Amino acid sequence: MSGLTRRRFLASSSAAAAGLAAGPWVGKSWAQGGPIKIGVLLPYSGVYAVLGESITQAMELVFAREGGMVAGRKIELIKEDSEAKPPVGVRKADKLIDSDKVDLLTGPVHSGVLAGIRDKVHNTKTILIVSNAGADQISRERCSRWIFRTSFSNWQPCQPMGGWVAKNVAKEVFQIAPNYQAGKDMMAAFRETFLPAGGKVIAEDYPKLGETDYAPFITKIKQSGAKAVFAFFSGSDAVNFVKQYDQFGLKQTIKLTGAGFLTEPDVLPAQGQSALGVITGHFYTPLLDNPVNQRFVREFKEKYNKSTDGFACQGYDTAEVIVRALKGVNGNTQDKMKLVEAIAKVEFDSPRGRFRFDPKTQNVIQPFIYVREVKEVAGGLNNVVIDRIADVRDPGTGCTLPV
Ligand code: BEZ
Repeated sequence: MSGLTRRRFLASSSAAAAGLAAGPWVGKSWAQGGPIKIGVLLPYSGVYAVLGESITQAMELVFAREGGMVAGRKIELIKEDSEAKPPVGVRKADKLIDSDKVDLLTGPVHSGVLAGIRDKVHNTKTILIVSNAGADQISRERCSRWIFRTSFSNWQPCQPMGGWVAKNVAKEVFQIAPNYQAGKDMMAAFRETFLPAGGKVIAEDYPKLGETDYAPFITKIKQSGAKAVFAFFSGSDAVNFVKQYDQFGLKQTIKLTGAGFLTEPDVLPAQGQSALGVITGHFYTPLLDNPVNQRFVREFKEKYNKSTDGFACQGYDTAEVIVRALKGVNGNTQDKMKLVEAIAKVEFDSPRGRFRFDPKTQNVIQPFIYVREVKEVAGGLNNVVIDRIADVRDPGTGCTLPV
């Protein structure tokens, strides 16, 4: 994101329209028609800046459609740049919860930020709607009644891909991902179905998040004897890795596959022809043929002059969940358990298909994980669906932690 765009994002702490109408309730802030404060903790700088931008833009599209109001209360977004760095994210979450006293929190993008803020969110009973970070532990041993996830668990786009790659691409694979929780989660999920299908992991490697020179890693891949690569990179890491993989001449000989983030439309224009032929698994592509998605793609293009992507779909769904749940409780944010119950019940047609939470994990059930190949269609590079796996739920078995 350019400095100007970043400043514009952070300067507008309110997405909403003016004009306040008090509701029929009695608690202090909403009796006065006070705004509903939503803390938005996303990266607006650093490796994952483009992800934060897409999520925010789509949320603002939905809130604008509602006239910036829900149940008679203005929606106020308080944005903080997590920089995709856990210590920064933790500090900013503390500020949003303790000083701004937000009614709801959304974000983050980085699994380490999510792991870092989880206990604070849980202990302060702050409702968090995770709009990207996939840390598997949040659907499992560290789940919380106060945390929902509209995006994915890291397991979801990768576990179905293991068996698919073993069957359709190669049985000798090199795994590579940034060296932090999300990378480790995704590579482990892939192996769950890859190994039983007869696959062999030739080697794995974990460059630092924000690496810019992948030459040493690509040289290892070249010398390894692997027939394919399964990779997770996102944001500027995805641009650098995919371009350098092609520049070193590996694209023709060692098939590049990965988690969908590798070739999302936020990075495809910068990757250009280097991305052609890359195969990834994801819950979304702008090419999905349903009326909600077609409208979303059209309106997003009109407003921002760019393509939707999975991150934008996550922002759209986060805002839809917030709007629908708040309407369900008539704008009452004081009774937090009632709001949690309203969120859990939300269901709607999303650009990705039917949206609903799994009651066992409070994580979204993916209607499909699509196997997609980057092809030149409709006048540009696109993730074209070549196969799909239905009803992908994280295997978390239930939150047993006390409310
Ligand atoms: C994560 O850290 O959980 C993550 C970041 C970017 C894309 C996908 C997952």
